[in-house]
Amino acid sequence: MARLGGVEQTRTLTPRTAVIWTVLRAELDRRAGERLSVLDVGGGTGGFAVPLAEAGHQVTVVDASPDALAALTRRAAEAGVADRVRATQGDADALAGLVEPAAVDLVLCHSVLEVVDDPEPVTAALAAALRPGGAASVLVAARAAAVLGRAINGQLDAAVALAADPQGTAGGRDTLRRRYDADGAGALLTAAGLVVEEIHGVRVLADLLPAAVADGQPAALLDLECALAAKLPYRDLAAQLHLFARRPA
Ligand SMILES: C[S@@+](CC[C@H](N)C(=O)[O-])C[C@H]1O[C@@H](n2cnc3c(N)ncnc32)[C@H](O)[C@@H]1O
Repeated sequence: MARLGGVEQTRTLTPRTAVIWTVLRAELDRRAGERLSVLDVGGGTGGFAVPLAEAGHQVTVVDASPDALAALTRRAAEAGVADRVRATQGDADALAGLVEPAAVDLVLCHSVLEVVDDPEPVTAALAAALRPGGAASVLVAARAAAVLGRAINGQLDAAVALAADPQGTAGGRDTLRRRYDADGAGALLTAAGLVVEEIHGVRVLADLLPAAVADGQPAALLDLECALAAKLPYRDLAAQLHLFARRPA
């Protein structure tokens, strides 16, 4: 059953997603009663797209992977929201040619800017896709956590390389092309004409804790993640940074 604006809470509470949903819910609440047009770039199998469609919104997912889009289509059908989810195969690097300008209310771009050829045209296209007053939810990989993670795992050479590399990568075997700090990610969105309203850390602690602690005390971990997400210096040690930005009205 569609609940326009609302997103069912129990399905969205994990250390990877809780903080993001808290921010998105505030925007959905602000626009309660409206059927929003949502674009999810690199939306994959629909972890965000399907709950947003279940909440009554119209979601287009652009993703490069046909397999991910097939899984998205199945998931949307199983959730009974196939009519509100459109799957489009396409490359985020060519986003400007795939989406109508000024046509969406909310754009999501989660875990994509670190893998595209060039993030600047992508963020310009995200901003251009938004109606004036529309909002962008952008999630990027963070550099500091990657340095700490390599070091804690004993990969000290990789930690040094990652800390020194201008793009924040650890060399040829790194699966990501770049990582961000809060200032760099904020500057990227600002240069695209967006106004950054909030920055949160996602997975401040979740990846650092022993599995027994994370699995044994999931509610306490979730509370701690939410408590630390906006606080410095904890925010900037998170594995990912979530930026919520708006196209000026
Ligand atoms: C790590 S997954 C994230 C999925 C989803 N955004 C989320 O946060 O749950 C990254 C997704 O981006 C897609 N992707 C990677 N590079 C892309 C590109 N250049 N253009 C469009 N999609 C891309 C992948 O196929 C994958 O579905």
